[in-house]
Amino acid sequence: MSDTLTKLTYQTFQQGKNYFSLAHKTLATQLRDVLYPTLQRKIKPIPTQLLLQLREKVNQLLEIDWQDAQQGVYPETLLFDNPWEEFFLYYPLMWLDLPQIWERIKQKKYQDFAPEIDTEGYPSYYVQNFHHQSNGYLSDLSANLYDLQVEILFGGTADPMRRRILAPLKQSLAAFNSVTAKQIRVLDVACGTGRTLRLIRSALPQVSLFGTDLSPAYLRKANQLLSEIPGELPQLVQANAEELPYLDNYFHAVTSVFLFHELPASVRQTVIDECYRVTKPGGAFIICDSIQRSDAPDMAEVMDNFSGTFHEPYYQHYTTDNLVERLEKAGFENIEIQVHFLSKYFIAHKPN
Ligand SMILES: C[S@@+](CC[C@H](N)C(=O)[O-])C[C@H]1O[C@@H](n2cnc3c(N)ncnc32)[C@H](O)[C@@H]1O
Repeated sequence: MSDTLTKLTYQTFQQGKNYFSLAHKTLATQLRDVLYPTLQRKIKPIPTQLLLQLREKVNQLLEIDWQDAQQGVYPETLLFDNPWEEFFLYYPLMWLDLPQIWERIKQKKYQDFAPEIDTEGYPSYYVQNFHHQSNGYLSDLSANLYDLQVEILFGGTADPMRRRILAPLKQSLAAFNSVTAKQIRVLDVACGTGRTLRLIRSALPQVSLFGTDLSPAYLRKANQLLSEIPGELPQLVQANAEELPYLDNYFHAVTSVFLFHELPASVRQTVIDECYRVTKPGGAFIICDSIQRSDAPDMAEVMDNFSGTFHEPYYQHYTTDNLVERLEKAGFENIEIQVHFLSKYFIAHKPN
């Protein structure tokens, strides 16, 4: 296929995901308004000008995604990577789960777990129905639905946003060109269902990959999904990001995607300190998370709607938290910031 045709196919593929997400959200909202009319939310209207700006930001994101593939940061095939089987298996379950979600919202239940879910031993800030998910992060159903939910939330741009860590990751690993690719160790903290590890594996087929998360169900899912792709299986360990079970200076790079907005402020600092501890001197720590207020004052409505619609108890504070200061406090330096669509990136270096 010619480059132009492939690019057009990629843009159409993304457009299709966007329309599908819009249709899903519209239908789900209409159904909720019929079944649970009291839940009708006062969403802040998004001005047309802002909607146009958002469309432009998506286009810019997709253009960078395409360019990075062209420049060999990752294979072009990654642009079309989509869990179709998972989609057909779990999309109907997403609909079946909705009435339970609406019931919990109606009853203002935000820490609601089925009796068979073991919530012992987890930090209290974690035992929450984040995004109103049934059983929070602690059930297999939640793990099976998560990728789909995120995909719909971001209108199909979740992976293009996650992929923006790959160029800086590869760049930072160039500092270790005296060791073989297999000797390079990369850790993804709060790896969830392993989506980011999957992308890293594609961009860096030889490196040794590690993933940690607090949720056994999400790690089981990550293990299943990562077993399906070529290359060595990443080593997955259940661990609190506040206490990583690794030696000091062990990893050439550490990444973390969409974690920090789900942590209370003091825990954010503890996790950053911990990531600093396990990163090798000369290595990098790369965070991808939501944009913050200072990045886009005109996006205030979007951020307010997000924290108003979803149960995200730490998000409001996150949007004003000075993560650069936190990273510097831990010891990182030379911190580069990037913003792509709704995500912000902190590329922090541990001094040699
Ligand atoms: C929004 S999800 C992001 C998952 C994944 N990184 C992604 O890109 O989709 C947040 C993840 O952080 C995990 N998590 C939250 N707090 C944690 C902690 N203190 N230690 C380890 N994992 C944690 C959750 O279990 C969940 O998998």
